Amino acid sequence: MFSIAPSLMCTNLLELGSQIRELERAGAKLFHIDVMDGHFVPNLGLSFDLVRQVQNITDAELDVHLMVDAPEQYIDRIRALKISHVSFHIEASHAPLRLAQALKEAGTKVGIALNPSTPVEALRHVLDACDYVLIMTVEPGFAGQKFIPAMYEKIRVVRRELDKIRLGIDIQVDGNLNAETSSRCIERGATILVGGSSSIFCGEKDVYSAYTEFREEVSKLCEQGGRVALKPDFPKGNK
Ligand code: DX5
Ligand code: ZN
Repeated sequence: MFSIAPSLMCTNLLELGSQIRELERAGAKLFHIDVMDGHFVPNLGLSFDLVRQVQNITDAELDVHLMVDAPEQYIDRIRALKISHVSFHIEASHAPLRLAQALKEAGTKVGIALNPSTPVEALRHVLDACDYVLIMTVEPGFAGQKFIPAMYEKIRVVRRELDKIRLGIDIQVDGNLNAETSSRCIERGATILVGGSSSIFCGEKDVYSAYTEFREEVSKLCEQGGRVALKPDFPKGNK
């Protein structure tokens, strides 16, 4: 039980439209879009203007990962664009509960993202307010980094905390997800894999084949190791 959200930051941007169509043909239903401001992270990623253009060519849902300071200032854009999923970093918000509420009122599913060095404890009073948790498995801002092994245990702890309060929401993981790291994350409770330059956009295969092989390899590894994604026996999002 896992889904894959291809990370559009890692596409060949000159071929964005055709790559999105190929990935949809392969089964992708959610695309991950990294929006950066050059402050929260020392890089510039994709933009809300690109989000609008992507919406024009696909009916798939979009998952915007805000790596920005003061994420509150983008609520009007998010509402106007009717984006289905938006995550913001808890490190970037002074009032995460208010922001999560405002995003919900703007009609989006809300993800709360944690940098690798941010402890799980930071989630304690916000879990109820979000629809999914995003655990960064590399430092945010750049593709092509190495997985931080301590994040496996972090995923397990977050899933355990969610189980304690009977909240069966998704855990998304983002950063250096290949078949091996992904299956280990799934074993510990992750349910959404962001597929970037370590899997779908590795440059060796066309994106249709790379997506299909990635999904199959992850499934195979999960089965081989008896690794079964935690499937909550209570309805998603319900306590
Ligand atoms: C990193 C981005 C990721 C990135 C993942 O800050 O949030 O979405 O595209 O790609 P790889 O697989 O290169 O880590
Ligand atoms: Zn991301």
